[in-house]
Amino acid sequence: KIPVIISTDPGIDDAAALGVAFYRNELDIRLITTLHGNVDIGKTTANTLKILDFFGQKIPVARGMETPLVIAPVSTDVHGESGMDGYDFPESGQTVIPEHAVEAMRSLLESSDEKITIISIGPLTNIAMLLLMYPQIKSKIERVVLMGGSLSGGNVTSAAEFNIWADPHAAKIVFESGLELVMIGLDVTLKALIGSSDLAKHRNKSAEMFTATFGHYRDGDMEHGVMMHDMCAVTYVTNPEIFKVEPKRVTVVTEGAAIGMTMEVSGEPNVRVATGIDQEAFRNWFSETLSRMV
Ligand code: BDR
Ligand code: CA
Repeated sequence: KIPVIISTDPGIDDAAALGVAFYRNELDIRLITTLHGNVDIGKTTANTLKILDFFGQKIPVARGMETPLVIAPVSTDVHGESGMDGYDFPESGQTVIPEHAVEAMRSLLESSDEKITIISIGPLTNIAMLLLMYPQIKSKIERVVLMGGSLSGGNVTSAAEFNIWADPHAAKIVFESGLELVMIGLDVTLKALIGSSDLAKHRNKSAEMFTATFGHYRDGDMEHGVMMHDMCAVTYVTNPEIFKVEPKRVTVVTEGAAIGMTMEVSGEPNVRVATGIDQEAFRNWFSETLSRMV
C-alpha cells in the first residue's frame, strides 16, 4: 500500500476526493490535515470530521494553518456557506488530534520507515510551513501530488487557479523545494467530469450525497458533469496511467495582476505537469470505486 497524508479544505470536491480515497485499497491514509481555503479553518476542520463519520472512517485529523503565509485569507462561495452545501451532514462525534498539522506531519514522517506521499487538495500553506520549519524532513517525503495551478488560464481570475491563488507564497516555496512534485491542474481537472448519469447507476448513500452536493457546486452542471478537481490527485496516485504528465519548469507569480498564476518558464524541470486525461478511464475508475462505497 502507498502511505499517504492528505491535506484538505472541504469543499464539495474535497469531500468526494476523500470519500473515494477511503475505498481505494492502494492507499494507506495515515493522516489528514486541514487548513484555510474554500471556507475558514473552523469549517474545513468540522467538515473533515463529518466526512469521516459519513464514511465510517477513523483516521487522525490534525488542524493546520488558519491563514496563508503572507496574504489575508480568502474564501469563495463556490461550495456554499458551510463549504459542503446541499447535504445535511450531522455534527461529528470525532475530534482532531492535539498536535498542529505541521507537528503531526513532522512526527509521522520522522517515525516512518518508508517515505510518505503527500496529496494536497487545498492551498499549500501546511506543506510550505513544514518545509520552512523542518527542511530536513524532505528526505522522508516520497513526493507531493497537488491539485492546483494551470498552464491554460485560471478559475478565480483569468490567470490563477484557486489553490495557488489562495496562498501563492506557500505554493512558490513548494514549487521551489526540490521535492518530487506532480501538478494536477485545471489543464486536466476541467475535463474530469462526473454528472447525473454517472451517479444514477449507483444506489448507495455515497451516490445520494454526491448527487446532493455536486448539484450545489457552482463550477458546473449535473447534466454535463461537475469538475472533480481534487479527486484527480487521488486518481493519479492510484492510477497514473489515466493521465499524461510532462516534466516542466513552472514558477508561481506572487504579486501583481497575475498573482497566483503558475507559469511555464525555461530551465530545469521542477514539476511533472498533468497535461492530458483519459476521460472515459477516469469515469470508469470513479464508477468502480463508487460501487464499493457505503
Ligand atoms: C480547487 O479549488 C477548490 O475550490 C476546490 O476544492 C479545488 O481544490 C479547484 O480550483
Ligand atoms: Ca479543495
